[in-house]
Amino acid sequence: MNSHPSGRPGDMSGRTAVVSGASSGIGLAIVRRFLEAGATVHGLARRGHLIEEQARDAAPEADRLHHHGVDVGDSEAVRDWARGMSGPVDTLVCAAGTNIPERRLAQLTPRAWDSMLATNLSGTFYLLHALLPRLREAHGDVVIVSSVAGAWPDHTGPAYQAAKAGLLGLARGAGRDEYGNGIRVCTILPGIVNTPILDDRPEPPPRELRDLFVQPPDIAEACLAAITLPRRACVAEMTIVATALQSMGNTQTATPTPPRAAPGEHHSAVRPGTSSGPS
Ligand SMILES: NC(=O)c1ccc[n+]([C@@H]2O[C@H](COP(=O)([O-])OP(=O)(O)OC[C@H]3O[C@@H](n4cnc5c(N)ncnc54)[C@H](OP(=O)(O)O)[C@@H]3O)[C@@H](O)[C@H]2O)c1
Repeated sequence: MNSHPSGRPGDMSGRTAVVSGASSGIGLAIVRRFLEAGATVHGLARRGHLIEEQARDAAPEADRLHHHGVDVGDSEAVRDWARGMSGPVDTLVCAAGTNIPERRLAQLTPRAWDSMLATNLSGTFYLLHALLPRLREAHGDVVIVSSVAGAWPDHTGPAYQAAKAGLLGLARGAGRDEYGNGIRVCTILPGIVNTPILDDRPEPPPRELRDLFVQPPDIAEACLAAITLPRRACVAEMTIVATALQSMGNTQTATPTPPRAAPGEHHSAVRPGTSSGPS
């Protein structure tokens, strides 16, 4: 089956996507962008009602947006949800994720560790496992939202970093096992993105710096581009960082110094020495 009915870059008409983490931030922006691109979208989050509230205006036809209250870290809940959901799925975006303020190694408890790994790593496997037959049938696309924290050491804490590095391994293994079945797997590794997850940091970044961060619609646009490329091309991994604050491998600093403004250029949002980094 051709999962690109139109075949045009940026066009998702006729496609059906499942997006986790759809009630906020990056996942919500992806839901909205997919709806605008013509897809039918099933959004998942524990606060399912927020998806309807936040994305309804992006779907002119009410039957193209469906919201589901699901905890992705609960394998039985994911399995039951997938069994109860009928119809094809050609796109799966796994964006659900979280972090906790008490994230330093000495603060992590076994219970917190298990919960972090359940949401941030196992939840993606549960969704992939539950939807694999339909993704195979559709020769579909899988997008996994990891983080630069999975590729470079930083301040986000060992549980978050272990989960995000685990996602990279899961995505690479899944891509290797499933490309022969026509499935494309793309991992997105964002740097710092202006979303509510930053408010769970021990020291949230100041509001006035956040305009310089990557914004959720930027990630959504990149995601859409990857999954609507001609099927012969697979964007296996993409790292997306804040141009003014980060670069490849330069994402660890909790308090980077923003660049000095060039003559005639104003970085009024920048206050040197304020904190930044991935979530
Ligand atoms: N913002 C950044 O700087 C940054 C950087 C790199 C990577 N990321 C990753 O990007 C992804 C999206 O995060 P965000 O920045 O957009 O944060 P966000 O605004 O806090 O959104 C997180 C989303 O995940 C959902 N979620 C959390 N736990 C869940 C669970 N157990 N079951 C189902 N859904 C759950 C939340 O919905 P409910 O609370 O309603 O369940 C929410 O929709 C995460 O994987 C995050 O690790 C973010």
